[in-house]
Amino acid sequence: MYSFKSWVMNSAVVMCVASGTCVAGEQPQTDLIARGKYLSIASDCAACHTVKGGAEFAGGLAIVSPVGKIFASNITPSNSAGIGLYSEGQFSSALRKGIRRDGANLYPAMPYASYSALSDVDIKALYAYFKDGVKAVDTPAPKTSLPFPMNIRMSMKAWNLLFLPGRPMKDDPGQSSEWNRGRYLVEGAAHCAECHTPRGLLMQKKSGSAMSGGLVGAWYAPNITSDPISGIGIWSNTELVEYLRTGKLHGKAQAAGSMAEAVEDSFQYLTDQDLSAIATYIRRVPAINDEGESNNRFSQGKASSETAVFRGVTSSTSLEETATGAQLFQGNCASCHLDKAQGTRDGYYPSLFHNSATGSINANNLVATILNGVDRTTTKGQVYMPGFGGKPADLNALSDTQIVSLANYILSNYGQLSVKVTSEIVATVRQGGPASNLILWARIGMAGGALIVVLLGVWWLRRRSRSRTKGTASFPTS
Ligand code: HEC
Ligand code: HEC
Ligand code: HEC
Repeated sequence: MYSFKSWVMNSAVVMCVASGTCVAGEQPQTDLIARGKYLSIASDCAACHTVKGGAEFAGGLAIVSPVGKIFASNITPSNSAGIGLYSEGQFSSALRKGIRRDGANLYPAMPYASYSALSDVDIKALYAYFKDGVKAVDTPAPKTSLPFPMNIRMSMKAWNLLFLPGRPMKDDPGQSSEWNRGRYLVEGAAHCAECHTPRGLLMQKKSGSAMSGGLVGAWYAPNITSDPISGIGIWSNTELVEYLRTGKLHGKAQAAGSMAEAVEDSFQYLTDQDLSAIATYIRRVPAINDEGESNNRFSQGKASSETAVFRGVTSSTSLEETATGAQLFQGNCASCHLDKAQGTRDGYYPSLFHNSATGSINANNLVATILNGVDRTTTKGQVYMPGFGGKPADLNALSDTQIVSLANYILSNYGQLSVKVTSEIVATVRQGGPASNLILWARIGMAGGALIVVLLGVWWLRRRSRSRTKGTASFPTS
């Protein structure tokens, strides 16, 4: 969306091109805005800063973190509610260092640790787009208030010191320019690692575990390292590009949850060149094998049916609390995924065997799909599966007990035999993922920190009184 100012600039360019009186500087500005717009799509700023159905980039989306809700800011060029008063330098600090215009630290729910990789030119382009290519909206986003001690934004300084790369990414001259572009997008703009890399105790991306799989709320972003068993080592470049563009790879995987959103808002719009660069880089991420896995998740299970077992059973039986997994499957799932779970031939309804969601050693995505369904719209059209996680009064709602029976039936007939779904897993996925111990740790940390300060103070006072007798005062240095 272009503002009046950039519209004038655009028409100035058209007119100057037509009349042959172009002045240097006008064309580059529109190019810069276009480049900024593309980057904002590649970086998926809208995923958090635009609410579904709301004004573009007006913020307000509540990002549910393990420590509470963090509201994404209004980043339209509004002076009162948005970032209209940000200078380019301040904008750069927000994106790459996580520091707001007023000097306060941002929470890492804003993926500045990834965006710290962005180049100066790209920051300039993004700034031009958000200044002149986006419409100002004067409605402020709700304020974030987290529980103590996470409400102390200063504490993020310590986090940044430990985990923020702190400089734009430099090309590796030993690698091809395609690999370098891929790394820039994967580690930086497209921030794949924010979801696919597991997090440590302090919510930092675990080093040495890049892309080996991480929890994102209710969903599990699987291992996408080059490992042929635990990762996607058996995927070709073309397959990975197809998955990123459409959210689907026949006979292997589909994107639901936050991956569906990333495909919808961002990846489907990337150029072939950029998608191919991403694939080139991802396919060379060092392999990480999950212990105990001997066959990849895309080759588990086969077609089978237990329909014969309950001939004569009425369809309402399949909805009762005591219904078996087979009954629940036939009553709720087989209408689309077909009776042997083989899916439709065109793949619109996928088979439930040879399917990442059922073949994985992490059953979260199977449970999350049953609860939340799938809803993904790309230029190829919409794919839709209803969720079965509604309130008990809803017609198609399944209880936790039913989901346990159903999921285990699917796993033992069509998927990963070594995994069992429990009612605890279903309850956790239903509430949107595990709560974290971070607040507890932070409190313990604060108590520990306070103790250390006191001890240091005592030590320093004693040292000072000792050294005073020698005539000098000094700070402890160790
Ligand atoms: C994964 C979610 C997410 C994505 C993606 C994201 N942001 Fe943010 N952003 C946030 C959240 C949440 C905040 C507020 C954090 C806080 O209050 O500490 C924020 C804050 C900001 C701020 C600070 C504004 C202020 O004064 O409060 C700027 C500027 C910003 N984002 C720009 C961007 C741009 C540009 C992009 C894309 C390149 C982007 N963000 C992508 C979540 C996101
Ligand atoms: C916002 C979080 C998020 C981001 C960002 C993200 N992913 Fe994902 N990704 C997921 C989730 C969740 C799934 C599981 C989806 C499902 O099975 O329905 C997934 C699935 C995948 C899969 C399929 C794996 C399988 O076994 O089914 C691939 C491949 C993948 N992502 C690649 C990428 C790449 C490459 C990027 C960056 C360009 C990326 N993802 C960015 C969350 C994310
Ligand atoms: C109305 C049709 C319909 C019904 C009923 C239905 N599904 Fe689906 N299912 C779909 C569609 C469509 C997709 C998504 C295909 C895609 O992503 O391209 C899907 C995808 C899935 C996936 C893969 C999700 C992922 O993230 O990889 C699983 C697992 C699944 N369904 C299980 C079930 C189960 C279990 C039931 C019964 C409780 C069920 N489905 C009922 C249509 C349906």
